[in-house]
Amino acid sequence: MFLAISRFSVANETDAAVREAFRARPHKVDEAPGFVRMTVANPTDDPKEFWLLTYWRDEASFEAWHRSHAFHDAHHGMPRGLKLDPAATRLLRLAVIAE
Ligand code: HEM
Repeated sequence: MFLAISRFSVANETDAAVREAFRARPHKVDEAPGFVRMTVANPTDDPKEFWLLTYWRDEASFEAWHRSHAFHDAHHGMPRGLKLDPAATRLLRLAVIAE
């Protein structure tokens, strides 16, 4: 199993709108080959930081989706006026060892 973690930090007052956008997400990724599940979380002491964990059968499945138009389609519901702190944006690639 492969785990991709997208971490970003909202630099303005749109964090509540981002939470709502995730709760109302389009679920298009659910049809992507090799997609397993995803979790979106905020650190308990920082509601402006987002950790988006997506689990995949393997790294190739993630890369295929991440390079495809489906990745862009998945972000059509991005809240207007969203500003990110570029220094806090990270994409981590991890091999799951045990669950
Ligand atoms: C750093 C910039 C990013 C921001 C601000 C961001 C924000 C968002 C938001 C607001 C949504 C909900 C979109 C909607 O409702 O249409 C979303 C969906 C999603 N994002 Fe991102 N995202 C970012 C990067 C990434 C990256 C790097 C990945 C891959 C690891 C990713 C994977 C996803 C997935 C899987 C969904 C769900 C799509 C669905 O339900 O079909 N995002 N993202």
